[in-house]
Amino acid sequence: METKISAGILDSTLREGEQTPGVVFTPDQRVEIARKLSDIGIKMIEVGHPAVSPDVLEGIKRITRLKKDGYITSEIVAHSRAVSSDITLAASLEIDRMAIFYGISDTHLTSKTHKSREDAMSIIGESVAEAKSHGLKVRFTPEDASRTDYNYLIEVIKTARDAGADRIGIADTVGIMNPLRTKDLFLHIRRDVPGIELDIHAHNDMGNAVANSLSAIEGGATIVHSTINGLGERVGITPTQIIAVAMKFHFGIEAAKLDKLGELSRLVEVHSGIRMPPNFPITGEYAFVHKSGVHVSGILGNPATYEFMDPRSLSVTRSYTIDKYSGKHALQSKLTSLGINLTDSEVVAVLSQIKNSPDTRYFDNAKLQEIAGYVSSSRQATVYREILKDPPNQM
Ligand code: COA
Ligand code: ZN
Repeated sequence: METKISAGILDSTLREGEQTPGVVFTPDQRVEIARKLSDIGIKMIEVGHPAVSPDVLEGIKRITRLKKDGYITSEIVAHSRAVSSDITLAASLEIDRMAIFYGISDTHLTSKTHKSREDAMSIIGESVAEAKSHGLKVRFTPEDASRTDYNYLIEVIKTARDAGADRIGIADTVGIMNPLRTKDLFLHIRRDVPGIELDIHAHNDMGNAVANSLSAIEGGATIVHSTINGLGERVGITPTQIIAVAMKFHFGIEAAKLDKLGELSRLVEVHSGIRMPPNFPITGEYAFVHKSGVHVSGILGNPATYEFMDPRSLSVTRSYTIDKYSGKHALQSKLTSLGINLTDSEVVAVLSQIKNSPDTRYFDNAKLQEIAGYVSSSRQATVYREILKDPPNQM
């Protein structure tokens, strides 16, 4: 019997997301975002790295208080380096889980922490055990896992597991994976290390973060890391709004309330100061806006011709634009919606005017009304001229 795929989302807007250049969240904003993430059913929220600054610490404390009072239900995760000072500080907070990270590729060991593989392994084991000794759930993230020698990665994961970590966050830190390699990596880790659950943390440097996250789920990952609007270091990580919809579409997983994703995206746009392009998937302004005549005539018959899902489940209304790419079906439908009823030949005349104004980006309602009015008044003028030419009472 086929096993049912199940997975959830860890949203890291407040941790990874705040690592976007130029982004800072106030404690109030952190609380607002955390509450909304919990309200939409996000399983885990990575609330920050307490050792970063007093305001991050303050925000985390306020979020854990809300969790205690029952206003937040998601699991609360705090980030920590593998150093006692970070671990002690994070453990002093009422979090559910500590996520300890350590770069384990040779590049990180040689050029960043200046540790041998053996020393790093000891540091990881001791840090996980220290976090665990505070009675917390522990995730260990082997940073740069995707560029790490596989046998060493497996030894590190076993060390973290044996020290008390129940989750391992496989980090594609510089976004070099592709979907086939990702699935393969997860299948192999699951085969080689029993007794742990896997997270995927996919950076989007080559645009593969969503695809890699989906492949990781197929390979057995049970948590996907993501951020609202895909915020994060450099070009960010898997966007929460895309992965939530993709998890539902591909696997039938309800990882978040989809109808609230747009609202959250706009909230994070405001708080982060990072505007989303209109063509951003799922929550971008154009996600369900159609343009060309062939497409619009299709959706007027059946929206499924050019939409993979019903936008109403995202609280979005589809629309279409009118310009030189439009056809008569789109124009007729638009004019009718504006209460303008023209004959077929008049619609063709309006369309001809539109097609002969190639520089106009959008024909908004006012402009359409103007052109349609001109065409229909010229119809009346013609009729009037006909009457004058051939008055009915002329004998
Ligand atoms: N575990 C343990 N030590 C680590 C580490 C890890 N996962 N990653 C890096 N380090 C070490 C480095 O080797 C370096 O050590 P050194 O000071 O002995 O050379 C140090 O941590 C990082 O350098 P730096 O940031 O300059 O040190 P700092 O003590 O001034 O600041 C932070 C440390 C964490 C408070 C500061 O970097 C910060 O606020 N960072 C934001 C959070 C962050 O970097 N997150 C990354 C998530 S992937
Ligand atoms: Zn990251």
